[in-house]
Amino acid sequence: SEVEQIRDNFIGAAALAAQAGFDGVELHAAHGYLINQFLSPDTNLRADKYGGSLHNRMRFLLEIVAGIKQLCPQLLLSVRLNLDDFLPNGLKINESLQVCQALEEAGIHLLHVSCGTYPSGLTSIEPSSYQEGWRMYLAEQAKKVVNIPVLGGGMIRRPSFAEEVLKQGQADFVFLGRPLLADPNWARKAAQGRDKDIRPCIVCNKCIDNKFSGRSIHCTVNPYAGREKERPVLFTRPGERRRVVVVGSGPAGIQAALTLDQYGLKVVLYEQDSELGGQLNVAAAPPHKYRIKHYRDYLQRRLQRSGVEIVLGHKYDQDHLGVDTPDYIIVASGSTSLLPPDWADQARGKACSVNELLASPQLVDGTTVVVIGGGLTGCEAADYLAGNGKRVTLIERQGRLAPTMERKNRRDLLNRLEENGVITKLNSQVTGVERGCLLVTDGQGKTETIDPDNIVFAMGYHPNRDLYEQLRLLHPRVYLVGDAQHIGGIGAAVVQGRKVAEQILKEDEL
Ligand SMILES: Cc1cc2nc3c(=O)[nH]c(=O)nc-3n(C[C@H](O)[C@H](O)[C@H](O)COP(=O)(O)O)c2cc1C
Ligand code: SF4
Repeated sequence: SEVEQIRDNFIGAAALAAQAGFDGVELHAAHGYLINQFLSPDTNLRADKYGGSLHNRMRFLLEIVAGIKQLCPQLLLSVRLNLDDFLPNGLKINESLQVCQALEEAGIHLLHVSCGTYPSGLTSIEPSSYQEGWRMYLAEQAKKVVNIPVLGGGMIRRPSFAEEVLKQGQADFVFLGRPLLADPNWARKAAQGRDKDIRPCIVCNKCIDNKFSGRSIHCTVNPYAGREKERPVLFTRPGERRRVVVVGSGPAGIQAALTLDQYGLKVVLYEQDSELGGQLNVAAAPPHKYRIKHYRDYLQRRLQRSGVEIVLGHKYDQDHLGVDTPDYIIVASGSTSLLPPDWADQARGKACSVNELLASPQLVDGTTVVVIGGGLTGCEAADYLAGNGKRVTLIERQGRLAPTMERKNRRDLLNRLEENGVITKLNSQVTGVERGCLLVTDGQGKTETIDPDNIVFAMGYHPNRDLYEQLRLLHPRVYLVGDAQHIGGIGAAVVQGRKVAEQILKEDEL
């Protein structure tokens, strides 16, 4: 039958792996893929010997295991198994624990515990609201019923947490997915006790979003992930060190400064604020985005250990060139919230931008708030305000909220907006102010008035390019990076910072 043919293909694939010299293989029986579909009563509607009772639903998997054991007895065999599909009719823990026992009896060597399927949504690759190690209880349950080693994980970020999982006996091994994209040296650094040197994953899920969109996997915080071949072979030149000024300490500026420093150039980093990080500081404020602060702290630690000279609380301008002329200048001056339209003047006193809100939450001192603009930052502002007990109305001129946001975090955020009673008005825009009230016109041209206590503008950003325009008239080698060049978020800024540094290094080599 077709089922038996597919079963034999699995066995044949394992045999090929053995022939190619692999020590082991893992069967994927999780996340809604084929073997999981056989196990799950939600998807397995068969009436033959492969469907119905758990005994029958396990048959496909157990026949594959038996076939591999027979054909390649030396091959180590792991099974990645859903302990819970998190679907109303899916595989649940009472049944999956029986599958664990059957697999042990069948002779597998490692049980890799996972959960969730595509239809159940957010649990196999979680959005940022999930707590570190939230699914370890599943591995712990599995460990109670088998003696073979159990591998558990999901949303584990810190070595200390992983260590605790092992110490508590919740699992025998811990797996990492995204943390290894963010820092491929995670395990080495953990083993060396260098936890603070690990570049942290911020759970933005851009990596998996890229994959689902058919693009190659890249990482927001690691500019080389998926671009390994782009890493240039550059040589530091002995002799006089070229000098670079970097203006702005957001992710683009810091990445450029660190890359140049690594290759031996003398870098001075100017930041007009009293702390490093630029937009990272406000980006970390909305709910469940605190890991951005961990990333900022990591960058700060790397800067402190580097040879980069940091000048805080100092606005760099063209007058500096008269005093001291560097060989290169990188302008990473970021972006500013777009100014609200003229009518907003009448609402002055109760209005602020998203950035102002996130930096100084006390600005929103009333109970009812209208957020104008339902892009990513507007939705995050609404989430933040509603989570703090405000009654929020979100107005978006398009028909969809946060259309560019990564889909898992987007789904999670929209769920929270709904749970917290945020009123959304799509295809609507504010057309004016009358006696302090907002006039909101919907897609049908119907206008209503809303009189909120506060208004938050989330209408996008414009690049800060004035400094660049001034400097490039006075200096031959001035580069523009990050939001100041193109509003593109952390990932784009980090890659640009890296690329401009490499460009300078290449020029310097010539
Ligand atoms: C970019 C990316 C690709 C993934 N691809 C797969 C896959 O092909 N099969 C699979 O079972 N899990 C896949 N996963 C899920 C991971 O194996 C892991 O279970 C999940 O990311 C949670 O662990 P983490 O928090 O350590 O990333 C993928 C995850 C990411 C981020
Ligand atoms: S892209 Fe985001 S979620 Fe993926 S590994 Fe990098 S930081 Fe983590």
